[in-house]
Amino acid sequence: MKGKDLLSVSDLSGEDIHLLISDAVDMKARGWFSSLSEKVLALIFEKPSLRTRVSFEVAMRQLGGHAIHLSPAEVGLGRRESVSDVARVLSRYVDAIVARTFSHQTLEILASYSSVPVINALSDLEHPCQALADLLTIYEKKGELDGLTLAFIGDGNNVAHSLLLAASLMGMNFRIASPAGCRVQQGILALAQDYATGSGAEILCTEEPHLAVSRADVVYTDVWTSMGQEAEAEERRQVFAGYQVNSELLSLAKEDAILMHPLPAHSGEEVADGILDSLQSVVFDQAENRMHLQKALLGQMLGGLEIPLTGYR
Ligand code: CP
Ligand code: NVA
Repeated sequence: MKGKDLLSVSDLSGEDIHLLISDAVDMKARGWFSSLSEKVLALIFEKPSLRTRVSFEVAMRQLGGHAIHLSPAEVGLGRRESVSDVARVLSRYVDAIVARTFSHQTLEILASYSSVPVINALSDLEHPCQALADLLTIYEKKGELDGLTLAFIGDGNNVAHSLLLAASLMGMNFRIASPAGCRVQQGILALAQDYATGSGAEILCTEEPHLAVSRADVVYTDVWTSMGQEAEAEERRQVFAGYQVNSELLSLAKEDAILMHPLPAHSGEEVADGILDSLQSVVFDQAENRMHLQKALLGQMLGGLEIPLTGYR
C-alpha cells in the first residue's frame, strides 16, 4: 500500500484488507500513535462532509501529522484551475491528497498527475474508506467476515459498489435488492464475481428486498438520493418506495443481525423512523470506525507504522 493510490477497493488485495483491519483494531485499542509526525494531508472536497472530513483530520492529528481542508470555493477544482495543475501543485506541498469528487474521472486525473498518493473520499463510483471501515465494524460485532451474509437494500450506488468489492474479496456473501435501473454497475459486478470465485463468496442481485434480507447477518442501506442527484429526489422517492428498511423487513434477517448505514440518513425514506436508534443499529460505531480504519490506512500508505498485532485473526 505504501505510496500507492486508493481510488477503489480493487486497488487492494484481501491480504491488504486483513492488514488494515488488524492495524485498526490495534490502533483503536492504543489510541494516539505518533507515527506520521511532519506528514501533511490535503483534503479537497467538491461535496459536503461531516464524517469523512473530521475523521481524516482527527486521524492525522492522532498520528502526529497535520491536515489541511480545502473547500470547493477555495480550490475551484477544474474551474479556477485544471485538475492536473492542482495535483501537481499540491504534490509539492503535501504527503497525500484525500479527495471527494462528483466524477470518479476527476479522481483518476488527480491521481495520474499527482506524485503523492491520492485517497478516494467518495466519488460517484465508489466510497472505499467507508467500506473498509464497515468491514472493521462487522468484524468487531461478529468476530469474523468470511461466510457472513450482508444484505444491501436500495441504490446500487458508490457505497454499494465498494461494499460489493470488499465483501467479495473477503469471502462475505453479498446480496443486493435494488429496483431495475438502479442496480450496481456491470463492470463492478464482473470484478466482484471474479473475486468471489477466489474467496468463495456468493453474490445475489435481486429486485426483492425480502430475498436479500432473509437470514442475513448484516442489513445495510444508504440514501436513495446521493449527493449530486438532488434534482431527481422526488422521482427516486417513488422508484425506491418499496425499499425502506423497517422493522418488518429487518425481522426477516437473523435475530442477531446488525443494521448499518453510512450516514447521513433520511429517516422516513430508506430507513423507517426510529430504526437507526434500535438495538440492532451500529451506525455510530460505524461512524467512529472511519477514524480508526483511516489511521491504519494512513499508517500503511505514508509509512512508519510498525505495531505488534493484537487479537485479529
Ligand atoms: N459516511 C460519510 O462519508 O459521511 P460524510 O458524507 O459526512 O463524510
Ligand atoms: N451515497 C451517498 C453516500 C454518502 C456518504 C452519497 O454519495 O451521497
